[in-house]
Amino acid sequence: MKVVIAQSYAEMSRIAADVIVRLVNEKPDCVLGLATGSTPLGMYAELVRAQARAALDFSCVTTFNLDEYRNIPTDHEQSYRRYMERNLFEPLGLDPARTNLPDCTNPDGEAACAAYERAIAQAGGIDLQVLGIGHNGHIGFNEPASEFTDRTHVVTLSPSTICANSRLFASPDDVPRQACTMGIGTIMGARRILLLASGVDKAAIVVKALRGPVMPQVPASVLQYHRDVVVVLDEEAASCL
Ligand code: PGA
Repeated sequence: MKVVIAQSYAEMSRIAADVIVRLVNEKPDCVLGLATGSTPLGMYAELVRAQARAALDFSCVTTFNLDEYRNIPTDHEQSYRRYMERNLFEPLGLDPARTNLPDCTNPDGEAACAAYERAIAQAGGIDLQVLGIGHNGHIGFNEPASEFTDRTHVVTLSPSTICANSRLFASPDDVPRQACTMGIGTIMGARRILLLASGVDKAAIVVKALRGPVMPQVPASVLQYHRDVVVVLDEEAASCL
């Protein structure tokens, strides 16, 4: 595991974007696993700037997002597809056919998850998976005590996750109750992982995940078992290391 400590959120974002730019330049048809949340926003803005100055051509990249709410209209402003369209896909002009998220509209959630796993396999697997980390160590919607072997599956959101995400909805009642998420087994199948964390509020969980015992109660701790992980932290998130 390689840990890089940046001086600021802006520098963290630049370093993380550079990891992706180098991969896309080496392998223009690479498969990227992407994440939502506030942490990767700066990195996505850097990627958009890189393409604008012709340092990057994303046109042959295929993307798979970690997760998507269930039973939310695809064009809902808080759907993860809309987040990705706003922050990355539309600014980069990506062909929607190359951008994948679990199908939140399929009434058969498990079938949607199985189809997602097949699509990842058909694309040749994920070259690089971007991850943020939750305050409880979750990655994707894999909350504490998730199985390390899980593939993409339906999860019922915990009350704390509903509460954390309700800031983005009109009221907590509007937050979807379920999501489809890549499982920890899916994430660990990526050939490379790029974990980002920013802010002093992530410092305690970063230490547990990177230096503590590997256990399902801290889902991100499983990354210690992956052979190619790059962790990019800002100084605040690294302050307990
Ligand atoms: P954040 O979310 O980037 O908004 O902090 C990370 C996560 O919960 O996985």
